[in-house]
Amino acid sequence: LRDRAGSRSAGAAGESPAGDWWRRAAVYQIYIRSFADANGDGIGDIDGIRGRLDYLRDLGADAIWITPWYPSPMADGGYDVADYRDIDPMFGSLADAEALVREAHDHGIKVLIDLVPNHTSNRHAWFREAIAAGRGSPERNRYIFRDGRGPGGDEPPNGWPSGFGGSAWERIVEPDGSPGQWYLHWFDVAQPDLNWEDEEVRAEFESILRFWFDRGVDGFRIDVASALVKDPSLPELPLEPPGGGMPDNHPYFDQEGVHDIYRSWRRLAATYTPARVLLGEIHVATAERLVRYLRPDELHGAFNFPFMRTPLEATALRTVIDATLRTHASVGASPTWVLSNHDEIRHATRFGRAYTGIRSRPGDELMPSDLALGRRRSRAAIMLVLALPGCSYLYQGEELGLPEVEDLPGHLRQDPLWEGTGHEIRGRDGCRVPLPWSGEAPPFGFGPPGSVPWLPQPADWVALTAAAEAADPGSMLALYREALRLRRTRPDFAGPTLRWLPSPPGTLLFARGRRMRCAVNFSAQAMPLPAGRSPVLESVPTEAGSLEPDALQPDAAAWFELPEE
Ligand code: NOJ
Ligand code: CA
Repeated sequence: LRDRAGSRSAGAAGESPAGDWWRRAAVYQIYIRSFADANGDGIGDIDGIRGRLDYLRDLGADAIWITPWYPSPMADGGYDVADYRDIDPMFGSLADAEALVREAHDHGIKVLIDLVPNHTSNRHAWFREAIAAGRGSPERNRYIFRDGRGPGGDEPPNGWPSGFGGSAWERIVEPDGSPGQWYLHWFDVAQPDLNWEDEEVRAEFESILRFWFDRGVDGFRIDVASALVKDPSLPELPLEPPGGGMPDNHPYFDQEGVHDIYRSWRRLAATYTPARVLLGEIHVATAERLVRYLRPDELHGAFNFPFMRTPLEATALRTVIDATLRTHASVGASPTWVLSNHDEIRHATRFGRAYTGIRSRPGDELMPSDLALGRRRSRAAIMLVLALPGCSYLYQGEELGLPEVEDLPGHLRQDPLWEGTGHEIRGRDGCRVPLPWSGEAPPFGFGPPGSVPWLPQPADWVALTAAAEAADPGSMLALYREALRLRRTRPDFAGPTLRWLPSPPGTLLFARGRRMRCAVNFSAQAMPLPAGRSPVLESVPTEAGSLEPDALQPDAAAWFELPEE
């Protein structure tokens, strides 16, 4: 480990130059409520993260991204921020946050935090001021308030739906007690959308960026980054194109004006040494539209949701990988690869289903999953991801092979989707269950003995604790550690490109550098591998007896090197 830290700062062969770390980092996403609970109140906290930095370093995380930790009424797991310049007491204090940043840096780990600029909490001081100040006031102009339609303004200004169910508009009571204006909330009613036409909103967020950059934070993951700017005429949503996808001229996805915000943030980030990094949660119609956010004067990176949504099928994977590499290269950006996050069904469960898309249709979560198959495919999938050029995002717990917890009782579910959709969509709590660290029974080391995690952990997670897996060379954790180590240290993985090689239908084979090869078999047949190769890593051991020596089993991946020519 000492070697690793040393070679990093020296920028040795195979390592990114220090300033470019985000081009090929492994970023570990921490959903703070569910990572580690130091004080035993059942909720993960900053001190919990501080206590697990060795684990993160040993895993091979170059950076962590921490989901919102600001004071929040938690109407949407902290994505409803009441004060952008403080820490919620349930997570700790500002001093704890500063200590975490320092200690993470001492471990060679960068720290990214989550910025939520599309909306605030309805408990934010600005929202209270907006209600109190009345119609037409500068305070109200920070949000998107409109008079209602119809007699008495009783109907919402337009028909936009909330992403969490129901209308995106809520009517307020004016300070004099009369029925009042309506405000836009694309998400929960407790998450009013900000008005990005307002100069004060723009200035405030630049000040918030500085606040955290000055405290050593290395960058931000930007929530809902492509939807901040709304067409001020608030037209009805265009119809979805036949076959699905995103229509042109959407009034809030991918409006041209949003790019100015990121140009300005990029200038600000570049004034710091080392330059701070900006990563967007961006949903747009095409890869070509996506990389417009990644032009050299805008964001450094964006999550690759099209890749995450691609089923484990060779042709579809190759198509999305090629589109990603081609479009990113066209603007000089580095691609990202992601299998899971805190909004999606955990991939160990998804990959065990006949349908392997994400939580897009109500009811998907009710399909049976073959978890043994899901884990086996997860092993192959992460070896594919970590062999690709660019940056990888890992979601806490995937390195343990955690499944989605699908049987949480309704009364414990906290995701606003559950209530908002009248229990039609179960929501995202099942991928947010607190991590199992050690021991034989809940709380599995998540908190001190006797503490009760905010969501119950399944008893059979006893086999999936970090401690149990650390002791087992065949575990998912062991695979992640080794794959991350190889990816970091083998010079062949350092370049920005890959080269496809011929392989049978249903399989992928590509070269990284001169000698490294990655083979992935999602077909139903064994995939022949070249004789004379040197095995580097295998998702399913191919040692004597388990199969023909020169073949890769279905739902498996292998990294190997070819001899020097
Ligand atoms: C995306 C976040 O990842 C999700 O968890 C949140 O509910 C929405 N944005 C709204 O902030
Ligand atoms: Ca706690």
